[in-house]
Amino acid sequence: MISSTMAGPARLDSAVRLVHLTKTYPNGPEQVAALQGVSLAIQPGAFTAIMGPSGAGKSTFLNLAAGLDTPTSGQVIIGDTDITELSSDAVTRLRRRQIGFVFQSYNLIGHLTVSENIQLPMLLDGRRPDEQWQQALIDSVGLTGMTERLPSELSGGQAQRVAIARALITRPTVVFADEPTGALDRRTGEQVLDVLRGTAKRFTQTLVLVTHDPQVAATADDVQFLADGRLAGELVAPTTSQIAARLVELGR
Ligand SMILES: Nc1ncnc2c1ncn2[C@@H]1O[C@H](COP(=O)(O)OP(=O)(O)OP(=O)(O)O)[C@@H](O)[C@H]1O
Ligand SMILES: [Mg+2]
Repeated sequence: MISSTMAGPARLDSAVRLVHLTKTYPNGPEQVAALQGVSLAIQPGAFTAIMGPSGAGKSTFLNLAAGLDTPTSGQVIIGDTDITELSSDAVTRLRRRQIGFVFQSYNLIGHLTVSENIQLPMLLDGRRPDEQWQQALIDSVGLTGMTERLPSELSGGQAQRVAIARALITRPTVVFADEPTGALDRRTGEQVLDVLRGTAKRFTQTLVLVTHDPQVAATADDVQFLADGRLAGELVAPTTSQIAARLVELGR
């Protein structure tokens, strides 16, 4: 890897860097080693897909990288900040400013309108949402005219568009998404992904996406495979069939 001094001070080598990351969960008297020493650097503006069998540690990986959970050991470096050295308040602040997260289950607040849900990360951070930016986002995710609705008045695809706008309102440097189309039908899922990829590209955000779908992963710049809590290879600009073949190998 090129050192940051050689590359010049203005350039960050990676948007996210994970160093020997481990996570062990207690499970009664036993321990579950969900991540067993994962090291990975993700370049700014890249779109990386994370794949692997169920239970491989994909969600654990994403939650740690996004500062939603703390590792048992190892480091998570966002930009040039090692978040494992920060207090939990400082991690929360950094997360609100630099990280967007899209969950499979939308996680919208039921009694808030679409526009209130989208503004929430700004308000929680004591900031006023930029109206023009908010409108641009709402238009870009295709929610024009729906801003006064409640989540119960939305389809799954619309709810996920709200979640995407909410993840992007703070202009995060990195957006993490954990199977964001897992609860949607194929066509709606494709539309939602187009929105996510399109906005990330347009605003040069780094996108890290967990998916089970080889067709979705084939649109990423690179695919990282996880198996049994360890990285199990990478495919750069792969085809759908290369990805599918690798998944079959991992499943054996
Ligand atoms: N809070 C928890 N407590 C105990 N064990 C956990 C916890 N979260 C995850 N695990 C375990 O850690 C391992 C990795 O789980 P993880 O959710 O990261 O897998 P995943 O790759 O996201 O799977 P899936 O594709 O099914 O979503 C699994 O064995 C899981 O049972
Ligand atoms: Mg998961």
